[in-house]
Amino acid sequence: GLLWAGLLVGSYLVGSIPFALIMGKVLRGVDVRHGGSGNVGSTNLLRLAGWLPAALAFSLDLLKGTLPALAGAWLAGPVGGLMAGLAAVAGHNWSVYLRGRGGKGVATSLGVLLAVAPVAALVAVALFLLVVVLTRYVSLGSITASLSVPVALWLLGAGWYEVGLGGLLTALLVLRHRPNIARLLAGTENRFRSPRPS
Ligand code: G3P
Repeated sequence: GLLWAGLLVGSYLVGSIPFALIMGKVLRGVDVRHGGSGNVGSTNLLRLAGWLPAALAFSLDLLKGTLPALAGAWLAGPVGGLMAGLAAVAGHNWSVYLRGRGGKGVATSLGVLLAVAPVAALVAVALFLLVVVLTRYVSLGSITASLSVPVALWLLGAGWYEVGLGGLLTALLVLRHRPNIARLLAGTENRFRSPRPS
């Protein structure tokens, strides 16, 4: 009871820390909300501020998923890991520090998956890279990789709870990419291009 509540609330609060906003402001004086896609995530920070702030934000956003998921897994196995991870991703997407605004949960979801199902995580990373190299759409890579997660979990013999919770991670990620999906369909989505050195 109390332990679970503490785990989920703690994971949500950790997930809420907007590292792309913090790194942009502290390292480059850039507000990631006011440029590019406006998204509070490392892809948009890469666009606006270059590789170093983006790599730091990506790594910290990833850890935001991994640490709560490890705590949850330690308490209650893979299902506990995925529940805590979902709370962290919800924090990233709907941050208490940003009054409910936030990012799309790509790095944080990957962090959760690395802790709970590393093989499924590696499959997702491989698909992400393949789609981004072929199309130069980061959003399409994120969506494709995310769709593979419940399928990979199922193929790897995970239990139904795990497949279902993995599917929830996918649902949250796709939900947060609605503006990207609209732009992809309209042919106006940003294509990845290497940012100027910074
Ligand atoms: O990191 C999220 C990515 O899938 C899309 O980001 O800024 O292009 O909307 P963005």
